[in-house]
Order: sequence, then structure tokens, then C-alpha cells
Amino acid sequence: MNVVKGTLIAVLAALVAVGVSTTSYAFHSGGVAECEGCHSMHSPKAGGSFLLVGGDQSSTCLTCHQNAADTKASSYHISTDSSKLGAGLSPLQRTPGGDFGWLKKNYSATLGTVTYAEDGATHGHNIVAADFGYVVDPTNATAPGGTFPSAQLACNSCHDPHGQYRRLASGAIAKTGAPIKASGSYDNVSANEPTATEAVGVYRLLAGLGYSKGGATFTGVPAAKVPGSYNRTESATQTRTAYGNSTASGHVTWGSWCSTCHPAMHSTGNYVHPVDGTLGSTIAGLYGTYVKSGDMTGTAASSFLSLVPFAENTGDYTVLASHAKTDSSQLGGPVSGDTVMCLSCHRAHASGFLEMLRFDQGYEFTTVGSQYVGSDNPLVTGSRAPLQHRGRTNAEWTAAYYDRPATTFATYQRVLCNKCHAKD
Ligand code: HEC
Ligand code: HEC
Ligand code: HEC
Ligand code: HEC
Ligand code: HEC
Ligand code: HEC
Repeated sequence: MNVVKGTLIAVLAALVAVGVSTTSYAFHSGGVAECEGCHSMHSPKAGGSFLLVGGDQSSTCLTCHQNAADTKASSYHISTDSSKLGAGLSPLQRTPGGDFGWLKKNYSATLGTVTYAEDGATHGHNIVAADFGYVVDPTNATAPGGTFPSAQLACNSCHDPHGQYRRLASGAIAKTGAPIKASGSYDNVSANEPTATEAVGVYRLLAGLGYSKGGATFTGVPAAKVPGSYNRTESATQTRTAYGNSTASGHVTWGSWCSTCHPAMHSTGNYVHPVDGTLGSTIAGLYGTYVKSGDMTGTAASSFLSLVPFAENTGDYTVLASHAKTDSSQLGGPVSGDTVMCLSCHRAHASGFLEMLRFDQGYEFTTVGSQYVGSDNPLVTGSRAPLQHRGRTNAEWTAAYYDRPATTFATYQRVLCNKCHAKD
């Protein structure tokens, strides 16, 4: 947090320094934050635009959303400083959207004539943030399945920096109608739900109806709620984001929202994996009983897996809030009307896996002999080992799985498509 000014901003910096949790202070509060947090009237960053405090839009956001002092997952941070990303190290943040630091993690492995190389750029959305070393995607000139130019991809391609979209007491999302009193994203209903006279922000300040960037125009905001403490290790308990499907005015499904920039990746009219389609009773049933490879003895009430979430077929934010917990009290699986969505398989920012997936799909095994498939797993040997561990240690695979011990999976766990399909 260099450049930023003002008393509130200084207080924020101090609170961050002593590690106060996410919900104890605010900046955006669901709407437009103090202008000076992002703009400077008389000393904006040289070479930038819009009087921003960073050299570009995304760098402005990262002046607060990344902190080089972090040593572990920390409140609203969604990026890890390059100094913490050396060989063998992994990004620190564990948010639902994911840590953009994964984009800087290239992996490689060689044994004899077998070599493997993986460019970190394939781990997510390559936002351009020059002050922080994030550069345009080297291969995708546009969004796959769409025309959005990669060179323009920034935080404010997806988030409205001025947070103008708001959810009203009627359930509708609009840009006016009542003042915004608070975030709206969190499970604390008393603070995060609208009243007759006040609105709350939309989920994560996401872009809504009419917001237009790079030739793509959004048609609405998707529904969800997160626990107030959402950036945390899942080594012992899971962080449940409750994704929803609202039909109230100004809302879209998660698939439609992502398809603003990726229209051809949506299943409507395209021969691709179903998106926004209902699970049906068979797949909902499999999800409920699947524990791990070879173990279908689970019960639906405790079957939720944050690595494979689904969208609940409800637009009732108080219901979603009641499920958005970290204490294992809300691990119910899906019912037949719930849907598979883009975020069932992908994260929104970045992940430790190819294509920003929530789980690895690059080798048939996730674990071998009760350990991840790391280069230090004594059972991952042989001439093809580089293609199996792909240059990561067990510790690095553990980080990509948000610190879950390998023993939460089967001794020989297969890919997590099986959470819904149980082909293993
Ligand atoms: C969270 C960061 C952030 C905050 C807080 C913020 N802005 Fe901005 N603002 C931006 C960004 C990023 C852009 C560039 C938008 C673009 O690239 O299209 C921008 C652009 C603008 C523009 C020019 C383009 C436009 O949309 O009209 C104006 C005017 C503006 N901001 C006014 C304000 C005012 C007034 C406030 C305080 C009430 C404010 N901003 C608070 C980030 C912010
Ligand atoms: C001056 C520091 C600062 C800057 C600059 C900043 N943020 Fe934030 N941001 C915060 C803080 C603090 C929080 C958590 C409290 C809150 O939401 O008000 C937060 C929370 C958020 C959230 C979650 C909000 C919610 O209600 O769910 C999003 C999304 C976000 N920021 C996006 C952005 C984007 C995009 C930019 C740049 C256009 C930006 N931020 C710039 C400090 C900042
Ligand atoms: C504002 C436009 C925009 C939106 C909205 C958007 N994307 Fe993207 N996406 C892009 C662009 C541009 C690229 C190509 C650049 C890159 O790969 O970094 C891309 C790339 C991707 C990739 C390939 C990443 C890789 O590592 O190769 C995936 C997967 C993806 N998006 C999924 C999603 C999902 C899921 C959502 C909804 C949560 C979404 N996108 C929303 C613009 C967008
Ligand atoms: C391609 C669209 C896209 C881009 C680009 C993007 N975000 Fe997000 N962001 C999202 C979505 C969608 C979520 C909600 C993820 C969820 O709950 O699963 C989110 C969540 C967040 C959160 C809440 C914590 C989390 O990770 O879940 C913050 C803070 C945030 N974004 C800030 C930023 C900042 C800062 C940038 C730029 C450095 C950025 N985002 C770029 C789509 C995007
Ligand atoms: C059932 C899981 C699943 C769902 C649902 C899903 N994807 Fe994917 N996606 C994948 C996998 C796996 C890949 C890796 C490449 C492949 O197998 O096609 C991928 C690849 C991609 C790519 C990269 C394509 C390329 O050419 O580089 C984009 C972009 C993408 N997905 C976007 C989306 C969007 C947007 C949605 C929702 C509309 C979505 N995906 C829904 C699993 C899924
Ligand atoms: C959240 C649950 C979920 C996850 C995770 C999931 N799927 Fe699916 N999949 C579905 C649903 C729902 C259908 C539609 C089933 C139906 O219509 O009977 C489907 C259908 C399919 C089909 C048949 C498509 C057709 O046209 O008949 C294939 C193949 C498939 N999935 C592969 C995968 C793979 C590979 C993965 C992992 C990358 C995956 N799925 C992950 C829910 C899921």
C-alpha cells in the first residue's frame, strides 16, 4: 500500500498490519468507496489514466488487494507478491475466486528424454497489472469462445469499480432506487440484506446489466453468498460459498454471466458440457453418496465439496446465507433442481491447475499411496514421472487443494469429475 492517501486508507493499512479480520472494517461497503482510495486529484501515478493511483486499472486495485507482508491467507487479498513465489513456494491466498499469483507459477520437470513444461499463464485470467508484474496472456488473443481482447482484461472488466449495482428490497438489481448500506455478499443477514429504504451491493461488486467493456455487455449479476471469513485454509473445515440462481430482475445465472465474454463455452446451442443444466436426481444422488474413489457410502447431508460446488436452484439470499458457512454445519449436497455451472469446475480468478480448474485433470490420479502425486512421493517414479508430478512437490499440490491433507481423498484418488459422475 504505497501511494494511497487519506485517513481511512491509513487506518486500513494499520488494521491490515495487525491482521484484523475481513469483516471488521470496510472500504467499498458494497458501493463506491472513498474516491481517494483509487484516484488522486493532484498526484496520480505518472503514465496512468483516469487520475488513478496505480499505473493501470488492475494495479490500482492491487495496491490494497495484494500485500507483500503476507505470510498466509489474509482477509481480502487475492494476490501474492512475487517475492513469495520462488521455486517450491505456492501462492498464499485461499479465496473462492483464487490467488492471481498462480499465474506466475511456471512448472517444469525433466527425466531422461521426458520433459514437461507448464506456463503459469494457463492457470487463470491474466489480468494486466504492470506495477505488479502481471502481463497479457501470451497465447489467447481473445477470450476463448468469444471476442473480448485479452490485452484489455482487468479487474474492472468483471467488477464495477464504482459498485453502482445494488440489490433492492424487491429482490431486483438496479443502479438506482435506494442508497447502498453494506456489501450484500456476506452471510450476516442483518447487515447484508436490503430494507425498505436501503439497498445492499450486488455479489462481489460484479458487473451488471448494461456494464460494457471490450465489446462485451453484461446482462445481469449472478446470486451468491459467502461466509464473512472466506479467505482461509481448508485444511480442517471447508469454506462454503452458496451459489444461487435468481430469476429476479437484473439477475443472470452464473453460466450466462461468464458467457458474456465466452458465449461459445455455454451449452445453449453449443455441443459442450451442460452448463446451467439441472443435475437431475441421478447425479444429485451420486454427489450425495460419493465420498472418494471406490467409496459411495456417504450421506447427502454431509456431502458438500468446495472443490466441486453447484448452484442452488434458489434466488432467496437468506437461504443462501444460511448455507454460506465455514463450520461444517452446512455441508448438504444438491437436490435434483440444482445446477452444474462454470464454477463447478473452474475458479473465477486463478488456480493451481491448468485452465483455472478447481481440481487437477492432468493425470488420472490425484493421490497415489495416500500422498499427492508430488515429485517427492516415492511411488511416483518411472520414466513418465515428470508427466505425473509435473514439477510440483506434495506440498505444492496440497496448496493447490487449499491445504487439504491428501488423506481426505482415497489412497488412489481419481479426478473429481467423479464427484458428480462416479465412474471410479
Ligand atoms: C475501487 C477503486 C475506485 C474508487 C473507489 C473510485 N473509482 Fe472512479 N474509477 C476507477 C477506475 C478503475 C476507473 C477507470 C474506469 C475504466 O477503465 O473504464 C475510474 C474512472 C472514473 C471516472 C472516469 C470514467 C467514468 O466512469 O466516468 C470518474 C469520473 C470517476 N472514476 C469518478 C469517481 C468518483 C467521483 C469516485 C468517488 C465517489 C470514484 N471514482 C471512486 C476506480 C475507482
Ligand atoms: C484503498 C484500498 C482498496 C482499493 C484501492 C481497492 N479495494 Fe477492494 N477492498 C478493499 C477492502 C478493505 C475490502 C473489504 C471491505 C469492503 O468490501 O469494503 C475490499 C473488498 C473488495 C471486494 C469484495 C466486496 C464485497 O462486498 O463482496 C471486491 C470485489 C473488491 N474489493 C474489488 C476491488 C477492485 C476491482 C478494485 C479496483 C478497481 C479495488 N477493490 C480496489 C480495499 C480496496
Ligand atoms: C470480461 C470478460 C470475461 C469474463 C466475464 C470472463 N472471462 Fe474468462 N477469459 C477472458 C479472457 C480475455 C480470457 C483469455 C485470457 C487468459 O486466458 O488469461 C479468458 C480465459 C478464460 C479461461 C482460460 C484460462 C486459461 O488459463 O487458459 C477460462 C477457463 C475462463 N476464462 C473461464 C471463465 C469463467 C468460469 C468465467 C466466469 C466466472 C469467466 N471466464 C468470465 C475474459 C472473460
Ligand atoms: C473474469 C472476471 C474477473 C476478473 C478479471 C477479476 N475478478 Fe474478482 N471475482 C470475480 C468473481 C466471479 C468473483 C466471485 C468468486 C466466487 O465467489 O467464487 C470474484 C471475487 C473477488 C473477490 C472476493 C474474494 C475472492 O477471491 O473470492 C475480490 C476481493 C476480487 N474478486 C477482487 C478482484 C481484483 C482486485 C481483481 C483484479 C486484480 C479481480 N477481482 C479480477 C470475477 C473476476
Ligand atoms: C464439467 C466441468 C466444466 C464446466 C461446467 C465448465 N468447464 Fe470450462 N473447462 C473444463 C475443462 C476440463 C477444461 C480443459 C479443456 C477441456 O477439457 O476442454 C475447460 C476449459 C475451458 C476454457 C479454455 C478453453 C481453451 O480453448 O483454452 C474456457 C475459456 C472455459 N473452460 C470456460 C468455461 C465457461 C465460461 C464455462 C461456463 C459457461 C465453463 N467453462 C464450464 C471444465 C468445465
Ligand atoms: C457438478 C456436477 C458435475 C461435474 C463436476 C461434472 N459433470 Fe459432467 N455432467 C453433469 C450433468 C448434470 C450432466 C448432464 C447429465 C444428463 O443430462 O443426464 C453431465 C453430462 C456429462 C457428459 C455427457 C454429455 C452428453 O452430451 O451426453 C459427460 C461426457 C460429462 N458430463 C463429463 C464430465 C467430465 C469429464 C467432468 C470433469 C471435467 C464432469 N463431467 C464434471 C454434471 C457434472
